[in-house]
Amino acid sequence: MSPKQRVGEACIQHLKSGMVVGLGTGSTADFFLQSLATAIKSGQLTDIKGIPTSRKSEQRAIHLGIPLTTLAECPLIDVTIDGADEIAPGLKLVKGLGGALLREKVVAQNSRKMIVIADAGKESAMLGTKSPLPVEVVQFAHEASARYLQSLGCEPSLRKNADGSIFITDNGNYTYDCRFANGIADPEALQGKVLDRAGIVDTGLFLGIASLALIADDAAVRERAG
Ligand code: 5RP
Repeated sequence: MSPKQRVGEACIQHLKSGMVVGLGTGSTADFFLQSLATAIKSGQLTDIKGIPTSRKSEQRAIHLGIPLTTLAECPLIDVTIDGADEIAPGLKLVKGLGGALLREKVVAQNSRKMIVIADAGKESAMLGTKSPLPVEVVQFAHEASARYLQSLGCEPSLRKNADGSIFITDNGNYTYDCRFANGIADPEALQGKVLDRAGIVDTGLFLGIASLALIADDAAVRERAG
């Protein structure tokens, strides 16, 4: 069993019947969705309602038979379980390589608790040393947003699909993947500067949002608190 599958199964232990659950996006979160569907079908978990973090996870949940709700109907989510691209000390995260950072952050910030599930390869001493930082921007004057991001010390690259077309998020925006040659020394300061600019919607920096990480390697799953 791969570490992603192991942690996608292990996180089910953190759920209880009757919970409203934020459904993450990505390959690790997909193992979680499969395990959740199995637990619902077997009767291990009852009266679960999911809130997806992307159209993709919504389609997967529907396909797997996970009952869904919305933040309009259920304003406070009990727990959100989602993957990450990088996990630094303090459970500071980079997310969004899967293209869903904005809805992922909205869902996580409207949750009592966010649990990150990942393989050990996602752990790092400093954010930005393993993963570029995805930044979602409006399409209008996106080149200006890219120039601003570059002025903050990174190399922004407009995300494209495999066929060369520009990747468009579920919210109709573009994404710049920003490489910081020496990592992101002060993520809080960077987040403040980036969000100060009109046209930039949000970044994949999740700071002070996750409270627990489940990290898997080839042998086991361990817990890391924030
Ligand atoms: C999607 C995300 C994913 O959680 C992140 O990219 C991790 O994906 P994977 O589990 O496939 O490695 O942030 O926007």
